[in-house]
Amino acid sequence: MRLKNKTVLITGATSGIGFVAAQRAIEEGAFVVFTGRNQDQILQTQNQLGTQSLGISCDHSNLASQDNFTQKIQELSIKFDVIYINAGNVTHEAFGQWTTEQFDVIFNTNVKGPFFLIQNLLSMINPHASVILCGSTSIHIALEKSSVYAASKIALRSLAKTLSRELLAHQIRFNLLSPGPTLTPALNKVANTPAETEQLKVSIENLVPIKRLADPIEIANAFIYLASDEAKFIVGSELLIDGGVANL
Ligand SMILES: NC(=O)c1ccc[n+]([C@@H]2O[C@H](COP(=O)([O-])OP(=O)(O)OC[C@H]3O[C@@H](n4cnc5c(N)ncnc54)[C@H](OP(=O)(O)O)[C@@H]3O)[C@@H](O)[C@H]2O)c1
Repeated sequence: MRLKNKTVLITGATSGIGFVAAQRAIEEGAFVVFTGRNQDQILQTQNQLGTQSLGISCDHSNLASQDNFTQKIQELSIKFDVIYINAGNVTHEAFGQWTTEQFDVIFNTNVKGPFFLIQNLLSMINPHASVILCGSTSIHIALEKSSVYAASKIALRSLAKTLSRELLAHQIRFNLLSPGPTLTPALNKVANTPAETEQLKVSIENLVPIKRLADPIEIANAFIYLASDEAKFIVGSELLIDGGVANL
């Protein structure tokens, strides 16, 4: 029960890594507030996670939607001990093909939204809180078509450091959790057809030194560690869970 009596926010927890992280946090004793854009998915997730959770729809690429979310949190007098900025846009495209709209959606979802969400929530974050930002192993390697995605994720590497420094007085620590390739529905968002998804999966497996994708639980377990008091000496750092992609 490493998160007993802790209130946790996980953005984008109706699927993939966020969903498994929410399940694990509840197992560890936390109350979990989670978000996603699709109301049906929120209700379905709420049913799966049970009474130790509260789903609130929010589009983190949209500041007005985030303002509504913050207002609800304030009205409910919720204070967070852990925030996991997990929702992310994973669009990949060849250089030369990018539209300004795609660029803006990635940066709004992965950087601007998280930055202003944390700023909005500042008075609703308890001292000694742990804020975990979702990076990616892509920030360490030069993957085809990942230019904008990797640039957005490395911005979070910087925020983990600068916000840890600026919020020392608030006793809030920020860290980056960087997954390697992980088996989630996000794979389908990068590919265009089921055959392309399968092809992509095989090519990604070959990229990973240990020749497989991560199970989302492997990322969720790292999240639990960073969220818990066991990791309270880890400040402004990055934890890579990537099967050796960046380091070997
Ligand atoms: N899977 C990988 O291989 C991998 C590797 C490295 C890093 N990551 C990172 O890990 C994080 C989670 O990825 P995943 O693979 O678990 O993806 P996923 O299965 O596609 O889940 C993404 C979740 O985020 C929500 N979401 C997306 N955009 C949102 C927005 N604008 N506002 C609110 N919620 C939003 C989705 O719900 P709705 O669509 O209903 O909003 C969903 O609940 C992302 O930040 C991704 O960049 C993934």
